[in-house]
Amino acid sequence: MRRRAQREGALISDVILETRGLTREFGGFVAVDNVDFSVQEGSLHALIGPNGAGKSTMFNLLTKFLPQSAGTIFYKGVDISSERPATLARRGMVRSFQISSVFPHLSAHENIRIALQSRFRETLDFWRSDRALNAYNERVGELMTDVGLVDYAHTLAAELPYGRKRALELATTLAMDPELILLDEPMAGMGQEDIQRTARLIREVGRSRTIVMVEHNLKVVADISDRITVLRRGKVIAEGDYDTVSGDAEVQKAYIGGGHD
Ligand SMILES: Nc1ncnc2c1ncn2[C@@H]1O[C@H](COP(=O)(O)OP(=O)(O)OP(=O)(O)O)[C@@H](O)[C@H]1O
Ligand SMILES: [Mg+2]
Repeated sequence: MRRRAQREGALISDVILETRGLTREFGGFVAVDNVDFSVQEGSLHALIGPNGAGKSTMFNLLTKFLPQSAGTIFYKGVDISSERPATLARRGMVRSFQISSVFPHLSAHENIRIALQSRFRETLDFWRSDRALNAYNERVGELMTDVGLVDYAHTLAAELPYGRKRALELATTLAMDPELILLDEPMAGMGQEDIQRTARLIREVGRSRTIVMVEHNLKVVADISDRITVLRRGKVIAEGDYDTVSGDAEVQKAYIGGGHD
C-alpha cells in the first residue's frame, strides 16, 4: 500500500477516508449512530448489514448527498464534512452507480468521451473542433478495454445489456480518474454471469485505487473485499476480513434475526 505524507490534522498516514462520530437522524430516528469508520488507502472496503442497518444513509453521508446531524468526515486528512459532491469529485473521490451518469441515446464510446471532456471542462472549451474531440479517443479506447466494452463501442447506452450498462457507468467514473470510488450495490439486479464479471472488474479497478462498496451479495463481498464493516441499527457491530466478521456471533445474530428484531 502506498504511504502518504502526514498532513495537518491528519490521522494515520495511510487512511484515505475516515469518519468520527458520524451521525444522521431523521426526525429523531437515528439511522447512523456515532460511527467511527476508516478506510485504508488502496483497499477494497465493503459496508454490509441487514436491511435498514443504515448502509445507504452512511453512503449518502460519505458522498455528501446527505448532510450529517453530527460528526466529521476526513478525506486524505482534510475535513470534508461540509463540502459538496462536485468538490469531492475534483479532489478524487467519486461516487458511481445509482446516479445515472449515462446518456441513454448516445453510444458507449460517446458517453465515455463526454465524461472525459466534462473532467477537463475547466481547461478546455467543451465543444471545440473535431480534432480536439478526437484527442480523447485514445483514452476512451483504453477505458473501454478496461471495462470490457470494446465490442459495444457504437451501441447506444439504452441498448446495452444490463451488466454492460454498469460497466459503462464504471468507465464514466474512471474517466474522472478517481483515487477513491464509492459504489452503492454494484451487483443489484444482476444475473450470475454479470455478477462475476463485475466482481472481477471491480477487483481489477481496485488494484490502483481505493474502493468503498455497499453490497448485499455476501459471496461477492467475501470474494473481493480486503476489509468489511458490518452495520446494524446504525452502529458498527464488527469489522475485519471476511473470516473475522462472518465468524462474529453478533454478525451471525444480525443476519439471522434481521435488522429490526
Ligand atoms: N429519508 C429518510 N427519512 C426517514 N427515515 C429514513 C430515511 N432514510 C432512511 N431512513 C431510515 O433509516 C434506516 C436506515 O436506512 P438505510 O436506507 O440507510 O438502510 P440500508 O442499510 O441501506 O437498508 P437496505 O439494506 O434495505 O438498503 C431505516 O430504518 C430507514 O427507514
Ligand atoms: Mg440501502
